[in-house]
Amino acid sequence: MAVDVVPVALGARSYEVRIGPGLIDRAGAEIAPLLKRRRAAVVTDATVAPLHLARLVAALEAEGIAVATLALPAGESTKGWEQFGRCVEWLLEQKVERRDIVVAFGGGVIGDLVGFAAAVLRRGVRFVQIPTTLLAQVDSSVGGKTGINTAQGKNLVGAFHQPSLVLADIGVLESLPARDFLAGYGEVVKYGLLGDAAFFDWLEGNGPALAGDAAKRQHAVRRSVEMKAGIVERDETEEGERALLNLGHTFCHALEKATGYSDRLLHGEGVAIGCALAFELSQRLGLCAQEAPGRVRAHLRAMGMKVDLADIPGELPGAEALVALMGQDKKVVDGKLRFILARGIGEAFVADEVPPGMVTALLDEALAARR
Ligand code: GLY
Repeated sequence: MAVDVVPVALGARSYEVRIGPGLIDRAGAEIAPLLKRRRAAVVTDATVAPLHLARLVAALEAEGIAVATLALPAGESTKGWEQFGRCVEWLLEQKVERRDIVVAFGGGVIGDLVGFAAAVLRRGVRFVQIPTTLLAQVDSSVGGKTGINTAQGKNLVGAFHQPSLVLADIGVLESLPARDFLAGYGEVVKYGLLGDAAFFDWLEGNGPALAGDAAKRQHAVRRSVEMKAGIVERDETEEGERALLNLGHTFCHALEKATGYSDRLLHGEGVAIGCALAFELSQRLGLCAQEAPGRVRAHLRAMGMKVDLADIPGELPGAEALVALMGQDKKVVDGKLRFILARGIGEAFVADEVPPGMVTALLDEALAARR
């Protein structure tokens, strides 16, 4: 299968996202042209290291690139000051200079943390993203959002720092646990729902075959990245259109907070539930056709995904408490909640004037269905 190349055109910060099988084994040849001297610092985590790191190191060394590696603990709790400090200091100990390249090799946590470390190290060094999860391949590795979490919330400290190259090896997705693959698929579906009805049609027909079909997987990753690249090109720093990428995320963030960012709800699962709720809210506001929310839910169900609040195990707070959790979201502007709503499948838009009572009523009903 040929490698797909999606350009992200951002002037002096332009780069390519290359998508295909076997890219880890070719990483040395892919990265070598970027290097001023033949060395690279690779940061990964304890889950990815035993599965894929030896292959990446061998591929870099085969091109005469000297490699230093650091494996951080796996999991969302890594994405904080402690491991960030450790990463930055390690990079300094490795004498990484401004002309060097740092490689972020892992899922969204590693990509965000290492990208932020690269953004601040010596006031900015270049970095390459090699995302190893579906979620990171279709979303977090592209677009230059980097950062860490603090006690006050997620991603509240960070920087826009675009990578110099993204290598999305679709072969690594085969080693992903089914639950993680499906969580990443929540972000794939989001692209169809927010701006490409034909892609959503395609996903309805082909989504269930993705996990076992490399060509279809590559198509889904490529189309998602094309859509993200287009949005980022038009609105790099989220002054407007980029907010559409947050479809489903206002609900998701409240649900993630309510479940303590735990195994009860993965981010991509929350996005899928949030998309279903956003379409339901759009329909109740008379914005989209009666059938649209049902179609969204039917597809998520057909994929075996979480769709309803009833699919989240354990207790949840009441509707008003959930709405209050949304109020702490960093996208709040002047005290008003911002939702991404839709006029139909593939037609999302930013809505700032949603009556809070509608949201509470919707969540009340969704919570009642759990009992
Ligand atoms: N993940 C949303 C964005 O990159 O804007």
